[in-house]
Amino acid sequence: MPPRLRVAILAGGRSSEHEISLASARSVLESLDPERYEVVTVAIGRDGRWELGSGDGSVAETLPVPAANAPATLGSVDVVLPILHGPFGEDGTVQGLLELAGVPYVGAGVAASALCMDKDLFKKVLRDSGIPVARHVALRDGEPVDNPFGFPCFVKPARLGSSVGISKAHDDAELEQATALAFRHDDKILVEEFLDGIEVEVGVLGNWEPVASIPGQIVPLGHEWYDYGSKYDEGGMELVIPPELPDDVLEQVQRTAVESFRVTECEGMARVDCFVVDGDRVVVNELNTIPGFTSTSVYAKLFEASGVPYEELLKRLIALAVERHERRAKLTY
Ligand SMILES: Nc1ncnc2c1ncn2[C@@H]1O[C@H](COP(=O)(O)OP(=O)(O)O)[C@@H](O)[C@H]1O
Ligand SMILES: [Mg+2]
Repeated sequence: MPPRLRVAILAGGRSSEHEISLASARSVLESLDPERYEVVTVAIGRDGRWELGSGDGSVAETLPVPAANAPATLGSVDVVLPILHGPFGEDGTVQGLLELAGVPYVGAGVAASALCMDKDLFKKVLRDSGIPVARHVALRDGEPVDNPFGFPCFVKPARLGSSVGISKAHDDAELEQATALAFRHDDKILVEEFLDGIEVEVGVLGNWEPVASIPGQIVPLGHEWYDYGSKYDEGGMELVIPPELPDDVLEQVQRTAVESFRVTECEGMARVDCFVVDGDRVVVNELNTIPGFTSTSVYAKLFEASGVPYEELLKRLIALAVERHERRAKLTY
């Protein structure tokens, strides 16, 4: 029997998506074949403390942060799976630590992670590449509120997720409340034009030759838009695979997703979220480099429907992490 690959799952983290990350990590832990992988978990608390445990959930060691030995610990495994969402996990910070530790890890690298976490910079790069995105203005804390788009409009923190801190503003009073809320979560926020369309999400998988999953349509149930409750309450949304759109539009969604993945220099995985406006115009909303990752999350369901079951998805992501690491290890700096 070949030696088992040593895999570390990084879970939890400092962001408001802590619990979601833990749920994703539990799914991953349950689905990694014990014959093939030896798994350790590293739970990061909301306070930023790192706790090293074995796959059975027991805590073996507590690493204070900044932990001088964290890179060494992580460096002793074969692959790290950062199953973290939002700031201090999905934004390039943890990826930087893993680069320093010299260990292969799943998903986007430092620059792509940081770029895609920032909805303002992300839109600018896509626009520069000719990929349609919503018009937006970015505001720094203390700057006067500027909404050139009329109502309704969307207001969001630049670097967060799970719809936390996001509002749909219908008038000036709501706009004021919306900007105050968003500034509680980030010192840069976006005011965006409202995209009146069908919301579709696509999974992307690969390094240099990424492939797109079948798209899925997000239908919020009992919610005006895909807010936190719609995302996580039982029955808050329905995922329709494939969306009720013509084949050529679905192909355009897939092409746009892969193109967005490429121009942002993503690797491994991403979920690209788009709107289809006026029936055939694909506009990218955002790209998540570490999408919700339970076995019943949108990303997993889209690949399941595309013929890649969850266990296979994990296997491929781990192989992609190793492939990138080996390729880059040959470079001279
Ligand atoms: N410009 C927009 N027009 C219409 N709906 C939007 C717009 N921006 C965001 N939304 C809605 O808000 C949700 C969350 O916004 P998003 O930018 O994806 O932030 P998050 O990173 O929190 O998921 C989207 O899934 C969508 O339903
Ligand atoms: Mg989103």
